[in-house]
Amino acid sequence: MIKQAIIPLAGLGTRMLPLTSVMPKELMPINGKPNLEYILEECLDAGVNEFIFIISKNKLSIKKYFYNDNFYKKIIKKKKDKRIIQEYKKIKKYKKMIKFVYQNTPKGTGDAVLKCQKLIKNKFFLMLLPDDLIIKQNCSKEMIKLHKITKGSVIATKRVERKTVSRWGILSLKNKKKSYFQIKDVIEKPSIKKAPSNFAIIGRYILSSKIFGEIKRLKPGQGGEIHITDAIKNLIHKNNNFYANIFKGKYLDCGTLRGYIDSGAQIYKGRK
Ligand code: G1P
Repeated sequence: MIKQAIIPLAGLGTRMLPLTSVMPKELMPINGKPNLEYILEECLDAGVNEFIFIISKNKLSIKKYFYNDNFYKKIIKKKKDKRIIQEYKKIKKYKKMIKFVYQNTPKGTGDAVLKCQKLIKNKFFLMLLPDDLIIKQNCSKEMIKLHKITKGSVIATKRVERKTVSRWGILSLKNKKKSYFQIKDVIEKPSIKKAPSNFAIIGRYILSSKIFGEIKRLKPGQGGEIHITDAIKNLIHKNNNFYANIFKGKYLDCGTLRGYIDSGAQIYKGRK
């Protein structure tokens, strides 16, 4: 059973400057709601209700967003506004589900995952990168379904334009079926020449707790960071089964300013 989700939130958000100089990108609203709430909703709908947020001391406003009980209480006392009461209840519900760990130096997603080791209870857990929103079809739900069938780890994937492969982790595949395949190998941000396919990793992973040991053995990779992709690569080479779920939903890239603006427009359009 997959009940826990890790959400790395300690990134600097440099692709979204200047906005992120004062506000974490994960709290920036998309059609009136922080990016992060879309991620939480996806998890809850997939039956995952324990969250581990990896934040940094520079991003304490993320914690505050869920810990502002007194602020709400004061307002509700003065003004019995139905909408505010509803928002308060929602935030309080989330607060109970979230634990916080800290990554104060941005040393990569692998390092962030390692900070959660002590809090992980089961063999498998979910990880979601909040830059990547997937709408219309619940990707986490699809992945949990595939995990139940294969009993292996699962990564979300979609085909990207060949000229963009060096922006992503890229998968090499075997035994391709209609909606999934087994992963033969993975390479983080390859050159066009070295990319084994144009199936890119999108930020949803079902990982086994074996990943922690593997991360500990890693040396810093590209850009001096500890990459989760490198730990995954090593597990695959040690014959651990990884499957790629070719998700059905629509991918929105919220990690760049252009993508963020488009995401808002797409979600707005979808709701009309
Ligand atoms: C990360 C991963 C990469 C993946 C991407 C998806 O990269 O390292 O493998 O394809 O997320 O968004 P980042 O966006 O942190 O550069």
